[in-house]
Amino acid sequence: MTYEEAVGKLKEFGQEHLLRYYDELGEEEKKDLLSQIEKTDFSMTHFAKDKSNVETRGVIEPLSAMELSEIEEKKDVFREAGLAAIREGKVGAVLLAGGMGTRLGSDAPKCMYDIGETKPVYIMERLIENTMDVVREAGRPVPFFIMTSEKNHDITVDFMEKMNYFGYDKDFVFFFEQDMAPATDYDGKVYLEEKGRIATSPNGNGGWFSSMHKAGLVEKIREMGIEWLNVFAVDNVLQRIADPVFVGATILSGAASGAKCVRKADIHEKVGALCLEDGRPSIVEYYDMTPELLDAKNEKGEPAYNFGVILNYLFREKDLEEIMNVDFPLHIVEKKIPHLDEEGNLIKPEEPNGFKYEQLVLDMIHRLKDCLPFEVEREREFAPIKNKTGVDSVETAKELCKRNGIEL
Ligand code: UTP
Repeated sequence: MTYEEAVGKLKEFGQEHLLRYYDELGEEEKKDLLSQIEKTDFSMTHFAKDKSNVETRGVIEPLSAMELSEIEEKKDVFREAGLAAIREGKVGAVLLAGGMGTRLGSDAPKCMYDIGETKPVYIMERLIENTMDVVREAGRPVPFFIMTSEKNHDITVDFMEKMNYFGYDKDFVFFFEQDMAPATDYDGKVYLEEKGRIATSPNGNGGWFSSMHKAGLVEKIREMGIEWLNVFAVDNVLQRIADPVFVGATILSGAASGAKCVRKADIHEKVGALCLEDGRPSIVEYYDMTPELLDAKNEKGEPAYNFGVILNYLFREKDLEEIMNVDFPLHIVEKKIPHLDEEGNLIKPEEPNGFKYEQLVLDMIHRLKDCLPFEVEREREFAPIKNKTGVDSVETAKELCKRNGIEL
């Protein structure tokens, strides 16, 4: 893109200030900035002030989960169906590792975080080992896709190479980068993080399928005959990946998707709860829970919105292709965004100073016809590492790992 073309594009979105330092840049930096402007989609920035595309909530109703007792009864049948699909190569795993992990406060990608005490135990190692359990049982590798972002791609790939993929068959590991979105102030003006670099951040965990498509991996998935994708977050070190019982239960239920969920620790726990919204599967976030929803009971007298999602979903790939071109709602999230001030000094704010624009995986569930909520035991499958200390932290996850016999 030429300088004139960049000016034209930026004018359209009221972002000409991004070229403020252009004349001070070296030739390479100029080229990089123009290329970043060319690649960046600025169309969402007006939503900073115009909240018209923020979805209003529909009618929320309970969605009952397949509970542990029922799963236990049918476990063998589910396991056989799941293993058959895995052995036929119909199941792939997708690790969402594009996030910034800001709450953990480490500059390295989250997957490289070491939770070991007597030896190094990296988060990625835990996830690979969990997947290996299924690989051993099924007798074939599960294709393992890793979503990174521009900010952590190279370092993640180098780490996996250096660690020899923690023993996973590297021919079955595929990396792809997720799209980036610009970060703005409260008026929708995009920040500069350097004189020649726009402030951008990964566009949320819901961007994974379209990013996979852009990377040419959807075609690969079709060629490989993969029919189901198990998407999961990087930070739950106990989760079961490509779990044959979950895979089998979802396939046999006939639903387009399945969601692993845990019984909430208490009704106020800060996790999204599965529900129906206008008759379709959905997730009601903890901050959207009204007093009525908090009080609602099911026929057993238990809280009606009691199953929290743990970001471990199974999607039928064909159905994802169908909804891929649907406009997903944007989530406009207040964040602390490092940026250059008027004088060109780098500011690292202590308080939120603007917005990031994200798509979320839970909106994919809502676009699908149906979803099987599948209960798992939280003590055995839910050890998220979100914070350095306190709730859902390194400490709590380590404790849970030890209780499950994992040596740290
Ligand atoms: P979180 O919502 O916890 O975000 O991600 P995060 O960026 O990791 O952490 P904070 O909020 O900055 O502390 C849930 C999962 O979604 C992935 C994360 O890597 C994690 O597995 N994710 C999140 C992405 O892959 N891309 C994104 O843009 C955001």
